[in-house]
Amino acid sequence: MSAERWISVGLALSIAASIGLVVTYVLGGQPQVEGALLAVALGGLGAALVVWAARLVDARTQTEALHPTGSPGGTPAATEEPVGAGEVTRRRFLLRLLAGAGAALAAALAIPVLSLGPRPGRELFRTDWAGGARVVDADGRPLRVADLAIDSVRTVFPEGRIGSPDGQTLLIRVRPADLALPDGRAGWAPEGCVAYSKVCTHAGCPVGLYRAADHALLCPCHQSTFDVLRGAVPTFGPAVRPLPQLPLEIDGDGYLVATGDFPEPVGPPFWDMTHDGEAGG
Ligand code: FES
Repeated sequence: MSAERWISVGLALSIAASIGLVVTYVLGGQPQVEGALLAVALGGLGAALVVWAARLVDARTQTEALHPTGSPGGTPAATEEPVGAGEVTRRRFLLRLLAGAGAALAAALAIPVLSLGPRPGRELFRTDWAGGARVVDADGRPLRVADLAIDSVRTVFPEGRIGSPDGQTLLIRVRPADLALPDGRAGWAPEGCVAYSKVCTHAGCPVGLYRAADHALLCPCHQSTFDVLRGAVPTFGPAVRPLPQLPLEIDGDGYLVATGDFPEPVGPPFWDMTHDGEAGG
């Protein structure tokens, strides 16, 4: 079989496999079939290019003896077909086939982008907390300062959003004089009631243990430890970011309420987050 035919077969196989890949994906996908089709698509294209490079692109320098000039017997007869016309036609056909194989493969590789789903937008930067939201326990009871003994801890949620995955928060009461919160947060912990996101900033496990002896919150997954008195900065383990703090106040009826959402995203850091907690790009 000629080189052109091998190239045509390789490219045609690649196109067929790429189309098959798209069809398989649209019909619901089947990983083994998709893998085999992708192998054929890439393999056919690669084999065709290798044959093309080896057989048709001849890099050697060709020399040929110079023909005598002039026509011995008068005007030469016109040829019926221009010299090299067949070669040009075949090459054009192969180039079109190559473009088709490339386009089909690109389409097959681009279609899975649809599986990424909608962009999260600002969702990763918000939780269910908002200014004025009452702090309630797991049974939905609003909490007052008097409900909390010193060194006690509760898992709390915004009112009406019990079980909220990103709104789950640890409410701890300590002696106000012991607190050494970062600048600007002096009013965030009324009467020593300080609240931090329960979602670990390492890998997202719930931070479930409070060690009152040294005011430490511990994550059971990889033992990250956070200092409750100093804004939940990590003091041990793999977490590098403090647990975000929820700003609190006491409303006119004596209940604890949030004055706003967490000032930064809860949970593990993600690739599109800058140091300010804003979306990059
Ligand atoms: S998830 Fe908390 S330490 Fe790893």
